Amino acid sequence: MNDLETLVEQARAAFAGATDGPSLENEKARFLGKGGLVTDLLKNLGKLDANERRAQGAVINQVKQDIESLLSARRQELADAQMHARLNAEAIDVSLPGRGRARAALHPVMRTWERIETIFASIGFAVAEGPEIETDWYSFTALNNPENHPARSMQDTFYVDVRDQEGRYLNLRPHTSPMQVRYARMHEPPIKVIAPGRTYRIDNDATHSPMFHQVEGLWIDENISFADLKGVYTEFLRRFFETDALTVRFRPSFFPFTEPSAEIDMAFTSGPMQGRWLEISGSGQVHPTVLRNMGLDPERYIGFAFGSGLERLTMLRYGINDLRLFYEGDLRFLEQFR
Ligand code: PHE
Repeated sequence: MNDLETLVEQARAAFAGATDGPSLENEKARFLGKGGLVTDLLKNLGKLDANERRAQGAVINQVKQDIESLLSARRQELADAQMHARLNAEAIDVSLPGRGRARAALHPVMRTWERIETIFASIGFAVAEGPEIETDWYSFTALNNPENHPARSMQDTFYVDVRDQEGRYLNLRPHTSPMQVRYARMHEPPIKVIAPGRTYRIDNDATHSPMFHQVEGLWIDENISFADLKGVYTEFLRRFFETDALTVRFRPSFFPFTEPSAEIDMAFTSGPMQGRWLEISGSGQVHPTVLRNMGLDPERYIGFAFGSGLERLTMLRYGINDLRLFYEGDLRFLEQFR
């Protein structure tokens, strides 16, 4: 084997030894680069006489071509290998089980909220929502619950360290009743509205949570009576619990913003809960002072209001006995409502 053939073999070995692009390019430079071995040979041709130069030149050019084709073959090999490795790494294992798609669902209290809106909307009630951070006037004073009156402790709530224009601390509304006044001040009678939403009180036990939900109802016109309240509310309960087998009774009570006031109790007339009276809502005829604060003439307008707890309704509907379950985020509980 002469020197030139050795050179081709050297190149073949060197290229084979290069296992990635950059090292292959280094090897290329060593043979074909400016100061490379082949280039040196070509430079030396100048020292030969014409005949020899032609003969040698042809041989060296052949060597050069051989090395170039070795180089491009190796380049291709490396590129193929790299592509292979990538395909392997990115391969999709079709035998792997999918991650699945967990079905989400509404929280049971939110389901109740939506049911209530649907039912009342179908009997002609508008739906309104109001602020959870309230002024002292809307939460209490406008509702005939004067400052320092002991009745305020019925709805004792949390206060925000921010004062309103009258210098009174803002509160987290302890009931949805402020919406009676807010809504009535913005709409002309007849007023027929429900206002569901979040409410707050300093309470925390199996039947009370510091945050809970209520729905306020208000119907004001020139000739609305307790009979209308009883009719509307009974219809609501029958649709909500999907049974006609329930009765409603009014039990005298006290709220500063209604006169007379009543608790609405209900009892199922069949089924496992049959005959047990359950307190379900506060209610009453809107107090004349409240009507005045709504900007209405109590000599002309009359109406009723009620305020019901959404948690309470939900617990009765599904037979849940501890209200805290709603807020613990335990999926074993929540998944039952999917
Ligand atoms: N706001 C009262 C409460 O939270 C309920 C109620 C509303 C009573 C409307 C009468 C009329 O207890």
